[in-house]
This record gives sequence, C-alpha cells and structure tokens, in this order.
Amino acid sequence: MTIDLAVIGGSGLYNFPGLENTSRHSVDTPFGTASGDVVVGEFAGRRVAFLARHGESHTVPPHRVNYRANLWALHSLGARRVIGVNAVGGIRADMGPRVIVVPDQVIDYTHGRYTSFCDVEGAEVRHIDFSEPYTEALRRELIDAASAAGVSVIDGGCYGATQGPRLETRAEIVRMKRDGCDLVGMTGMPEAVLARELDLEYACLALVANFAAGCGDEAEISIEEIFAHLAAATAEVPRILGVLLKR
Ligand code: HPA
Repeated sequence: MTIDLAVIGGSGLYNFPGLENTSRHSVDTPFGTASGDVVVGEFAGRRVAFLARHGESHTVPPHRVNYRANLWALHSLGARRVIGVNAVGGIRADMGPRVIVVPDQVIDYTHGRYTSFCDVEGAEVRHIDFSEPYTEALRRELIDAASAAGVSVIDGGCYGATQGPRLETRAEIVRMKRDGCDLVGMTGMPEAVLARELDLEYACLALVANFAAGCGDEAEISIEEIFAHLAAATAEVPRILGVLLKR
C-alpha cells in the first residue's frame, strides 16, 4: 500500500477530520500492539494514515504509549513520511497558547521508555546520527504549507520531552529554560528517534496549549483551558496538511 503521509495525533486529535473512504488496520508488531487501529483514507486526493497516539478515547498516558509498535505499524503499512502532532506547553515568551511551532531540536528528559528497536538479544547495534532530530525537508514542507494556508507557525525551537503524565514544577521549567528548551511536552521522545531508526522522514507540529509552569500569569495551569486552546490550534492542522499534500 502507498501511504503519502502518516499522522500521529496527540491530545485533542483523536481522528482526522475530512479523511474519506477509510479502512481500519489492526497491526501486529514484534513490539506489541499499537495505541489503536491505523485508519487509512483519502484526504486532499492523497492517501493518509492516521493513528491516535493516546488511543481514540485518550486512554493511553504518555509514559505508556507503545511508541515502537506505533511507528512499526505505520512503517509496515507503507508509510515513509510521518508528522507527529504534539500538545505542548510554551516556555519561550512568544510561544503562548494556540501558537503552532515546528521545532528543530529536542532534549530528552524521559526515562524508562523503550528508546530503540535494537534491543533484541543478538541484534546488530546501530548508532544513528541524531544531530538534527527532525527531517529538515519535511519541516520545510510543513512551514511552507502553513504559510500558503495562511496559518502562522514558528520555525524552530527546542522541544523538551518530559515523562508526564503530571505537568512540571516551576523549578523544572526554570532548569529546562536554562538548558535551552523552548517548549515542553510528554510525547516527542522517543517517537522522533524511533522514526529515525526506521529511516522514516519525521517532523513535529507542536500545538501550544498553555504557558509552561511559571511562564504565564496564572499560579496554576487549568486543564480545561489546555483543552480549549488545543481545540483551537488543532482546527488548523487539516488546513496545513491539506496544502502540504496537494503540493
Ligand atoms: N507540560 C508538558 N506537556 C504539556 C504541557 C505542559 O505544560 N502542556 C501540554 N502538554
């Protein structure tokens, strides 16, 4: 099967609006089961595969997502280009709620997750280059498509991946800012590195749902507000991807 683009939907994106003539694929992988069925259909005249990272009813928390099975499933269905849509908190002042960012760097603070496909006993160990964690050509396509669709996005930024599912303390965010993080989210890793191991093209569309702890005016972060902002930013995703696919 030829898949023009695969999309992994994060919090707030549990199905792909406008996907037509769909079929569902439950894929068995050597790494267990994916977060759910992969839904393959047509969008903007192209074949798109969609997978809800947290499951279609948001039942899989960030630290329990089977990232390996998800990417394996998409790859085995024929996907070669993957966009990860991720809800994030904004650390940088210009990355407030509803802003969309296409990050270009990652710092991984997660732990206890399977971060490689090469941990089967006896398998050859492969050390991959990860200097640039996202595929630059796909990043550019996303940024150009957003511009053509009239959706403003920020080009570049460092995504700090935390363990979750709790949000961070203010001190943790101060440390992350010092480290050079512009955004904080719970699912950007190991997804990006596993995509690289499978030689998939991969880029991230980060949707800012809130200012990270201590970065906004509020003393506490409201989960209701997070989801309201996410819904607004998520509505722009099909517009961007529609242009990307038609090019
Ligand atoms: N921290 C981590 N992940 C997130 C946040 C946050 O503030 N907002 C949305 N996802």
